[in-house]
This record gives sequence, C-alpha cells and structure tokens, in this order.
Amino acid sequence: MNLATRFLTLIGAAVSGAFAWRLLQPEVVQRSPSRFLAAALPTRDGRPPVALVTGASAGIGEAFARRLARSGYGLVLVARRRERLDALADALQQQHAVEAQSLVADLAEPDDIERVAGVASDLSESGRLDLLINNAGFGTVGNYADLPLQSQLDMLNVHVTTTMSLTRAVLPGMLRRGRGGIVNVASTAGWYPLPGNATYSATKRYLINFSESLQSELDGTGICVQALCPGFTYSEFHDTAAYRASGFRREQLPWFMWQTAEEVVEASLNALGREVVCIPGIHNRVVTMMQMFVPRAILGQVWRRIK
Ligand SMILES: NC(=O)c1ccc[n+]([C@@H]2O[C@H](COP(=O)([O-])OP(=O)(O)OC[C@H]3O[C@@H](n4cnc5c(N)ncnc54)[C@H](OP(=O)(O)O)[C@@H]3O)[C@@H](O)[C@H]2O)c1
Repeated sequence: MNLATRFLTLIGAAVSGAFAWRLLQPEVVQRSPSRFLAAALPTRDGRPPVALVTGASAGIGEAFARRLARSGYGLVLVARRRERLDALADALQQQHAVEAQSLVADLAEPDDIERVAGVASDLSESGRLDLLINNAGFGTVGNYADLPLQSQLDMLNVHVTTTMSLTRAVLPGMLRRGRGGIVNVASTAGWYPLPGNATYSATKRYLINFSESLQSELDGTGICVQALCPGFTYSEFHDTAAYRASGFRREQLPWFMWQTAEEVVEASLNALGREVVCIPGIHNRVVTMMQMFVPRAILGQVWRRIK
C-alpha cells in the first residue's frame, strides 16, 4: 500500500467512524436522562414550572403534554379544537394533579398568534414558563401551482410566524431567569427538496436553521433550543381528506419507518440541551445523512419519482 492509499484509507476510516458514532450517539451514548425528562423543578416562587404546547389537541403535541404533565409541569394547551383541549386538560389535572388550561387559537390568524404570544410573554415574565413547544402544523398534498395560495400562507403562519412570535415573546423572561427550553417541531422533510410539499419542506427548513442560529446566539444563557425533526409518525397528520384522496396509506411504508408520537417526544426531551438538531429514530438519521452526499437536484428528482 503506497502512502496516498494509506492516507485515503485512514480518512475513509475516520469518516466512517464519525458517521457511525453520530448515528448511534443519541441511543447509546446518552444514558442518563436529561433534566427535561426528570421531575420538574419548582420555579422561584415554589410553584411548578409551566410548558406551553401548540398543537396539543392531537398527535405529537398531545404526547408532549402528557409526558410533561407526568414530570409535574403545568400546561397551557393551544389548538383550535376546544373540546379536545378541555378533555386533555381535565385528564391531566386528574391523573397528575397539575394545572392545565386550554387556549383556543387558530395559529393561521395573525390576531390569534398575537393573543397567544401575549399569554406566553406574561407567563415567561412571571418566571413560570420553562418550556415552549412550537409544534402545531399540518401538511398539504399537491404541487405548489395547483394548491390555493391561502393554504400555503396559512402554513407559513402556523409553522413560521407562530414560532417566531412565540419564541420572541418568551425569550426576555427566560433570559432573565437564565433558564428555559424551546422545541421547534420541524421534520426530516426540512433536509431535502420535496416536490409536492414545497412550502412544507421550506418552512421546516426555516425551523432547522432558525433553531441552530438561535442556539448559537443563546449559548451560555441557560436556554436550550431544539429543532425536532421527526420522520413518519403515527398521529392525525395523514388522516386528512387530501391525504386520503391522494391514495396515501400508512401500510405503503414499511413498519420500521414509523414511530409513535411518544417515542418522538421521549427522544426530543432527552436530547434537549444536548443536541440542537434531534432526529428521532436511527432509520431517520441514516436516510437524512445519506442524502447529504447526493446532489440536491438529483434528490428532488428521486423524491418526485418515489411520490
Ligand atoms: N406525523 C408525522 O409524520 C410528522 C412528521 C414530521 C413532522 N411532523 C410535524 O409534527 C407536528 C405535529 O404534527 P402531528 O403529526 O402531531 O399531526 P396532528 O396529529 O395532525 O396534530 C397537529 C396539531 O396541530 C394543530 N394545528 C394544526 N393547524 C392549526 C392551526 N391553524 N392553529 C392551531 N393549531 C393547529 C392541530 O390542532 P387543531 O386541529 O385542533 O387546531 C393538532 O393539535 C407538525 O408540525 C408536523 O409538521 C409530523
């Protein structure tokens, strides 16, 4: 073996080692649970800390609310469906003896975003808000040229404007306390061009870059930011008329591609404060990393054919 071959072999081994280490890290290396999975610490006034969760009426948001209540967090539950939120708030109060309140809001509407941001800001200023989970979201099906513009603008508001507004609202209070966590629920779809979901993948990309930049700005302040990037997750996300009309069925995908909302939430809270980008599930990390080596124009074509 000549010197150049040895050098390349060494580089190859180092890259493969780093790659494997990175893939395994969340499951194997992080054995001790993070502070966000442990029992919630009381705030300065001795009361339990509060988490505000958007999109708490179903799926991943509901799983966040249930998991955090189990740790003793008070909850502010935000979504449009009041009956769902009230039922969840009642259940959490009874099962975990925590405070839980419904906050009905349509986060596609600027006035409602402002109202929720006001509540978030007050809670943060009072020193009680420990966690903000920007989770509300939805998908659409179809090419951008064929979709009503309003549906895409609504998506921009729910995914991006809401996240920007609520995050800005809670930061001053969290900075003063020197403590807090912000989870922005993005998606593996934020890692590649996704024909048929152009606005969805673009808004999720925004959340990833926003979270990474924000965490850099906040390093050393005691505030942890995370871009949570789930892959296919059992929830109501794919139960819409549009997905049904498109012929989408969960069984089309192999079982190992799916995770439960509870698995996603456990991975997120365990990674919060340790990793800015959390991609739950080794299969999602493998797919996300592999496509980093493929030119983006080709990726777009590949996803177009798969769909
Ligand atoms: N499921 C997946 O495969 C998957 C994969 C990657 C990322 N994600 C992301 O995970 C997040 C949660 O989705 P999910 O899978 O849990 O879906 P889900 O079961 O459909 O839940 C979506 C939640 O968002 C709320 N929501 C939607 N539009 C809203 C609006 N205009 N105003 C207020 N709340 C609104 C819904 O509440 P109301 O209808 O009551 O308003 C619901 O609580 C989303 O950001 C999604 O993009 C999901």
